Amino acid sequence: MKVKLPFAGAQIDYMQESDLPEVMEIEQRSFSSPWAAASFREGLRQRNHHVYFLVIRHHQNPIGFINFWVVEDDAHIANFAVSPDYRNRGVGKYLFAQSLAYIQKLGGNRVFLEVRVSNIEAQHLYRQFGFRILSIREKYYVDNHEDAYVFRLSNLRAIDLCIDSAYHVDAESNTDYSEF
Ligand SMILES: CC(C)(COP(=O)(O)OP(=O)(O)OC[C@H]1O[C@@H](n2cnc3c(N)ncnc32)[C@H](O)[C@@H]1OP(=O)(O)O)[C@@H](O)C(=O)NCCC(=O)NCCS
Repeated sequence: MKVKLPFAGAQIDYMQESDLPEVMEIEQRSFSSPWAAASFREGLRQRNHHVYFLVIRHHQNPIGFINFWVVEDDAHIANFAVSPDYRNRGVGKYLFAQSLAYIQKLGGNRVFLEVRVSNIEAQHLYRQFGFRILSIREKYYVDNHEDAYVFRLSNLRAIDLCIDSAYHVDAESNTDYSEF
């Protein structure tokens, strides 16, 4: 799997509370049942070392984000979106690949996520990394009672993530995750 930097200067970083205005705009433009700002804020304030919120920036501004947790060798991707203004340029693929690399580094090997059955774009992306449908959760989404596919990547360690740049999560950020 070869993944390119979407543009010079694209940078992945830990999400900060100061990112929430842009993150919430992306969230609201991306989902019919968006998370509330309080859910992000609470997640960030908890500083739970199993839970990660990352953003990808262009000229310092967040243009996409991802939230996942990792417990032992299981990981779950709970939220992931790219600003509609930056889609179809490789931003999502790059952020997703870097996140999988990070999950690998944290010891995760099985990765799960839910996706709407109608969300073909996201399913294409997940399939490229080896995710496959594990099961269906009927009427999972409350807004329109749409079904969810549960996608699983069963052996992340076996995947060679060949990413076109140095590792970009800034370990010098002031977030005191114990792994660093
Ligand atoms: C899913 C999402 C994050 C992808 O971000 P993106 O930056 O547009 O994605 P990329 O440009 O990196 O494309 C990655 C892959 O997605 C797939 N993809 C993207 N747009 C697509 C489209 N219009 N049709 C089919 N596949 C598409 C392709 O597999 C593509 O890889 P390729 O270019 O090598 O073929 C973005 O569409 C988004 O934010 N959607 C709304 C929120 C969402 O659905 N989140 C996921 C919830 S499970």
